[in-house]
Amino acid sequence: MQIGIIGSGAMGSGIAQVASLASDTTLIFDINPTALVLAENKLEQELENRILKGKISTAEAERIKGNIKYTSTLSEFSTCELVIEAIVENLEAKKQVFKNLEMVVSKTCILASNTSSLSITSIASACENPERVIGIHFFNPAVIMPLVEIIPAIQTRDQTVQKSTEIIAAWGKIIVKAKDTPGFIVNRVARPFYGEAFKMYEEGIAGMATIDWAMKEFGGFRMGPFELTDFIGHDVNYAVTESVWSAFYFDPRFRPSLCQKRLVEAGYLGKKSGKGFYDYSQGNTNPEAKKDEALGKKIFERILAMLINEAADAIYMNICSEKDLETAMTKGVNYPKGLLAWANAFGIEKTVSILDGLFSKYHDMRYRSCPLLREIKSFNI
Ligand SMILES: NC(=O)c1ccc[n+]([C@@H]2O[C@H](COP(=O)([O-])OP(=O)(O)OC[C@H]3O[C@@H](n4cnc5c(N)ncnc54)[C@H](O)[C@@H]3O)[C@@H](O)[C@H]2O)c1
Repeated sequence: MQIGIIGSGAMGSGIAQVASLASDTTLIFDINPTALVLAENKLEQELENRILKGKISTAEAERIKGNIKYTSTLSEFSTCELVIEAIVENLEAKKQVFKNLEMVVSKTCILASNTSSLSITSIASACENPERVIGIHFFNPAVIMPLVEIIPAIQTRDQTVQKSTEIIAAWGKIIVKAKDTPGFIVNRVARPFYGEAFKMYEEGIAGMATIDWAMKEFGGFRMGPFELTDFIGHDVNYAVTESVWSAFYFDPRFRPSLCQKRLVEAGYLGKKSGKGFYDYSQGNTNPEAKKDEALGKKIFERILAMLINEAADAIYMNICSEKDLETAMTKGVNYPKGLLAWANAFGIEKTVSILDGLFSKYHDMRYRSCPLLREIKSFNI
């Protein structure tokens, strides 16, 4: 099968590796010829590292390299059966790419976007044949993260969903299906992990090291919210939050945090720039966690209640199935448990009581409990 990728950045290159390892020939196009050269050099390095670490064999690395072709000529995409766009997160730029693609590809070619937060329906509206357009959302790094969200636009035909699902499953990925709504599943449901942590930090309820410790100690998360956003990059994480918040008509549940905005403004983007919430320069000492068990549990339970509320709302609003929600959060962001199973174990009544307590303290709609949590005793999972 001939696959096309538009954009040779972090995601485009990763997706190309996944497709080419599965023996599909893959063309990568980028508007910037230098980006193509960089992508090719980076792939060479990455494959060498993965061979050294025993992750892939030399033969597999050769297969990947042999199956990928870099091009600055879009007309070469005429024989593609699926094209995945992974360019900058800009609606107008994406719409233009889809328009250009339609002039080149066959009538049966599926056109997909890897957008993290834009409307697939809006992207599809740029096409003569919007029924062939779909969201296929990989997670970073695409080679390692097993989850892919499949997002039909309201125009997408069933056949497009079926064929896309078959192709991505053949690449060895775990698939969940999401409604075309801001943040899809993972980028919507995970927002309170960051936002509520930042709010407690801004209010001085606890320091960042204490909040990180609490989430790892009592929640079993691999990283705390401050460590994780330093790792993701504040530019990337803040942009997703702001986009989801504005796309939900400024719902206070998704409100971005000034402490993170200031980091972005200062260029303190996290690990990649040497400084974010923490300072990664050599010899620097970072704040220590205050390991107060009562405070730690309170922090963890507040963030967990907010996460459960968001998960419940995704179910209530028919964004995805209960099973897909659990898969998305454990495979897309490595949560130690699915949030619905966690809700059952933690207690739905307890969750509502924490939310109601926060609502009466702040009088902020951010803390409104999802109606579903007031209706059910447990999730059917
Ligand atoms: N980085 C992540 O963590 C992540 C995760 C999931 C999804 N995404 C989404 O994937 C997409 C790409 O993200 P990325 O991190 O790989 O970006 P990136 O900045 O690393 O790469 C984007 C590439 O697209 C190229 N490009 C820009 N405009 C183009 C055009 N009109 N035609 C062809 N090429 C063009 C750029 O030259 C660049 O090489 C975005 O929509 C992003 O939201 C990103």
